[in-house]
Amino acid sequence: MNILVTGSNGQLGCELRKLAKSYEQFVFVFTDKEELDIRSEHALNKFFKQNKVDCVVNCAGFTAVDGAEDNIAAANELNMRGAGFLAAACTEAGALLIHISTDYVFNGQAGCKPYKETDVAKPRSVYGKSKLEGELEVIFNAQRSVIFRTSWLYSSFGHNFVKTILNKAKSEQELRVVYDQVGAPTYAADLAKTILDIIPLLPEKIRGKIYNYSNEGVCSWYDFAHAIIEMEGIDCQVRPVLTAEFKQLAQRPHYSVLDKTAIKTDYHIDIPHWRDGLRRCLEAIRD
Ligand SMILES: NC(=O)c1ccc[n+]([C@@H]2O[C@H](COP(=O)([O-])OP(=O)(O)OC[C@H]3O[C@@H](n4cnc5c(N)ncnc54)[C@H](OP(=O)(O)O)[C@@H]3O)[C@@H](O)[C@H]2O)c1
Repeated sequence: MNILVTGSNGQLGCELRKLAKSYEQFVFVFTDKEELDIRSEHALNKFFKQNKVDCVVNCAGFTAVDGAEDNIAAANELNMRGAGFLAAACTEAGALLIHISTDYVFNGQAGCKPYKETDVAKPRSVYGKSKLEGELEVIFNAQRSVIFRTSWLYSSFGHNFVKTILNKAKSEQELRVVYDQVGAPTYAADLAKTILDIIPLLPEKIRGKIYNYSNEGVCSWYDFAHAIIEMEGIDCQVRPVLTAEFKQLAQRPHYSVLDKTAIKTDYHIDIPHWRDGLRRCLEAIRD
């Protein structure tokens, strides 16, 4: 099976790249915007004419949540229109599309109850809206498609919360981190492995099937930061603060834990706890 990974220089793309050698049954092509800009219908048509593609894992995204508030057009162009173009190209080529979405499609106001795939999505941010629109583009345009909604993605590759906390904790005595936003961190390596394990098991007829995926467990950003610093043995205090005390452009859900019953039931997968994922990521960063 020939698998195309788009946006492959990002966190999830790099983890897929790292895992590729363990999946000899797949032939991978890794592209990022220089080789294949998914906002360009022309570039996509040309690429799919020149390459045999059976499956696409779309890791491309406008992922700057605050940045999107001031760049609505750019966020929509990539997360919505790009996803739609890619979905249409997959249909034309008869390829399966694995698309990645987010817990930020939810407003987080449903109380402390994990969101199921079927719960009504009402994003609070431009980023969340653009990702929800992207899901709809995929469902509408791709004849074979699966959407993974994930949350709080981090990796030893790219920029993310774990690396920000590590860097700040080394130079500052005290960090202020919000404790009224609760979710579940996801080590991108675990999501990457799950995607590759599941691809061969997907039924031939599958359209717009949404699966939630994060690591197990629940925490606030404060708990997450505390664990990062504790596991690394850094001498720095973490102080819990309210979102209201902390200026961020985009509004984020206060509670956006994803219910993973569907993926666990359908594919009998064991999902590591977020502390276990964090430990492995910190090891990878140290290496
Ligand atoms: N990060 C999170 O916390 C999080 C949480 C939930 C869901 N997700 C979703 O998970 C997916 C992967 O996230 P990630 O954190 O791995 O993202 P990432 O690290 O930001 O990587 C995205 C990649 O897409 C590339 N890209 C940008 N414009 C492109 C274009 N026009 N065509 C092709 N590639 C393009 C980026 O290149 P440049 O960097 O050069 O622009 C980057 O290499 C995204 O769909 C994201 O929305 C992320």
